[in-house]
Amino acid sequence: MGDGAAERLFGDRLPLAERYVEHLVTTGVERGLIGPREAPRVWERHVLNCAVVAELVPDSARLVDVGSGAGLPGIPLALARPDLQVALVEPLARRVEWLDEVVADLGLSIAVDRGRVEETAVRRRWEGADVVTARAVAPLARLAGWALPVLRTGGSLLAVKGAGASAEIARDAAAVRKLGGGDPRIEQCGAGAVDPLTTVVVVERVRGAGRPVRRNVR
Ligand SMILES: C[S@@+](CC[C@H](N)C(=O)[O-])C[C@H]1O[C@@H](n2cnc3c(N)ncnc32)[C@H](O)[C@@H]1O
Repeated sequence: MGDGAAERLFGDRLPLAERYVEHLVTTGVERGLIGPREAPRVWERHVLNCAVVAELVPDSARLVDVGSGAGLPGIPLALARPDLQVALVEPLARRVEWLDEVVADLGLSIAVDRGRVEETAVRRRWEGADVVTARAVAPLARLAGWALPVLRTGGSLLAVKGAGASAEIARDAAAVRKLGGGDPRIEQCGAGAVDPLTTVVVVERVRGAGRPVRRNVR
């Protein structure tokens, strides 16, 4: 990790980030939200690795983190960027219970929503979002099918991916375009903060729902 990376990313919210890490390595491990082997590397592999995605998030964005699990990347992003409105969507009851407790303890105004993002009721609650984030949730095409209907036209899906990102794009780009997404592209985040850099596949919503509007031609 780059020297002082956590201080730079979280600023005066560093004590809150430390408290979040404390939750992850104690009750997060005990209650199965993260594996015990992850505990020693929670900062580098999880919290900082997720917080650097803030580089791609516009000011004051409405952000929906899909398949949040232990709050990743949604909680590090909310801590690093107090200007964001963040919602965490997660279907599993025991994860939602833990997220509710942690968000309350940290005093964050983050919404925690129990459900699957493709459910109509969930989509209706969050549609028009500027950004949807997801890490380790689903292959790109399936993720695009879930995320694009939640985004406003011009909003972006930020999918945190690993070394296979290019191959996933080659496989799924055509399906993503059919779903109303633009050409997926790769961004690397976190120079000077994390090593390796965090790989993010970005897909913009370029088309709204339904058929394209026909214009009258005079
Ligand atoms: C492998 S975990 C990743 C958790 C977290 N994003 C991370 O990076 O540590 C995948 C999560 O996605 C959730 N999930 C799976 N399908 C989902 C769906 N359709 N809508 C929302 N969340 C979903 C699962 O319950 C699980 O918590």
